[in-house]
Amino acid sequence: MTRLPDGYRTIEIGEDRQEEFRAVDRLAFAWPPDPEVDAQVPFTVPFDRAMAVEGPGSRLAAVHGSYPFTLPVPGGVVPCAGLTWVGVRPDERRRGLLTSMIATHVERSLARREPVSALFAAEQGIYGRFGYGCAADAVRLTLPRRAALRPVPGSEALTVELATADADLHEDLVDRLHVAAGAERPGWVVRSTPALRRRILVDPPQWRAGGEPMQLATVRAPGGEPRGFALLRRTSRWTEAGPEFPVDVLAAVALDAPATHRLWSFLLDLDLTSSVSTPKLALDDPLLSLLVDQRPGRPRLEDNLWVRLLDLPTALAGRRYLAPLDTVLEVTDALVPANAGRWRLRSHSVDEQGTWALAVERTDQDAQLRVDVRELGAAYLGGRSLAGLVAAGLVEERTPGAGVPAAAAFGWPVAPLCSWTF
Ligand SMILES: CC(C)(COP(=O)(O)OP(=O)(O)OC[C@H]1O[C@@H](n2cnc3c(N)ncnc32)[C@H](O)[C@@H]1OP(=O)(O)O)[C@@H](O)C(=O)NCCC(=O)NCCS
Repeated sequence: MTRLPDGYRTIEIGEDRQEEFRAVDRLAFAWPPDPEVDAQVPFTVPFDRAMAVEGPGSRLAAVHGSYPFTLPVPGGVVPCAGLTWVGVRPDERRRGLLTSMIATHVERSLARREPVSALFAAEQGIYGRFGYGCAADAVRLTLPRRAALRPVPGSEALTVELATADADLHEDLVDRLHVAAGAERPGWVVRSTPALRRRILVDPPQWRAGGEPMQLATVRAPGGEPRGFALLRRTSRWTEAGPEFPVDVLAAVALDAPATHRLWSFLLDLDLTSSVSTPKLALDDPLLSLLVDQRPGRPRLEDNLWVRLLDLPTALAGRRYLAPLDTVLEVTDALVPANAGRWRLRSHSVDEQGTWALAVERTDQDAQLRVDVRELGAAYLGGRSLAGLVAAGLVEERTPGAGVPAAAAFGWPVAPLCSWTF
């Protein structure tokens, strides 16, 4: 499964081959080469995690990298390898290079003691075969200007300040609010390196598609303390009917309900604008509850974070559970044999919030549920229900009804989301 074609080998990429690494992804994703953009946008893959497949003549045929993330999971965090920059040259496709790179990624992540890997998929059909499950769904809306919100006490006391986004000036504020806003949300990966923290605010003119430079809207408490922010771009568009500027909200986070209300009240009523596109939102995002009428926004569902359990017992023991559980899983895993087989999941202690810790041990007992590691990845953040996966025929109940208590335990009150694509 992991054999490379003759004459190909896996190599680490150092800084000296950064341009070749970038060139493979440029070709894979059809990005126009632009030295001016490259000069502004920091290269984000840490060099001890940048890998390639080198073909004949030392040409790079495929690349991938990973970020050292701490993944928020229900009731805790686990180390996570964020798979990224996956690209195979179009003339090297379908020869097993990605398959080989995934094997390398799994091996190296496990050696770094990262029990979980996560990614954003360019296409949904790619990663399931490698044991990644879609663990979070997101929704986007395109709202009409002045879409009404239900009132929230305290919103009116807050102010909003607008400034052109500037990495030097705003990096700390944006990062601090982003970290704090998602502290309780599974999947809310934060930007773990200086390059990633900077990149969110980098805005080369070539990326603006005719729009204005990226703007930062900051919500402030009466004392000036920041309570939320949005990154947005308006595009000037005049029609016979007058101005119809679209507003593209690239990110929006807030620390509490009044700040959320104030932020969206501002975004939804900018002069000259006609529509407001939201960034990806969690399925329980407060905006969805605040909107008087969601329907004109035509909510669209999309896959968000994909999760792969690399070290199953460590990963499962690394989160908390919403109900007590004592069950045996028969797990299949075509890629990581150490995960396959029967595991007993037994809750053993409950904390003051009523969430349970789980012991995960090998067992010879009969299994109640048969599940592939892909489906466990999908259920891991509490986003996809094991009962739903039973209903879909993707998880098998060996004991009738066994999916229900497992689904109750794996569920979580806060829907998972990663707010930015990596
Ligand atoms: C997607 C991509 C990385 C696949 O690389 P590859 O080296 O051709 O993949 P492999 O040869 O190892 O394919 C392994 C299997 O996955 C399947 N597969 C690969 N890409 C797929 C896709 N986009 N959709 C559905 N199946 C896909 C292959 O058909 C093959 O199936 P098989 O085992 O049944 O024969 C490559 O085509 C690419 O770089 N695409 C453009 C950039 C991109 O999408 N990158 C991913 C970023 S998240």
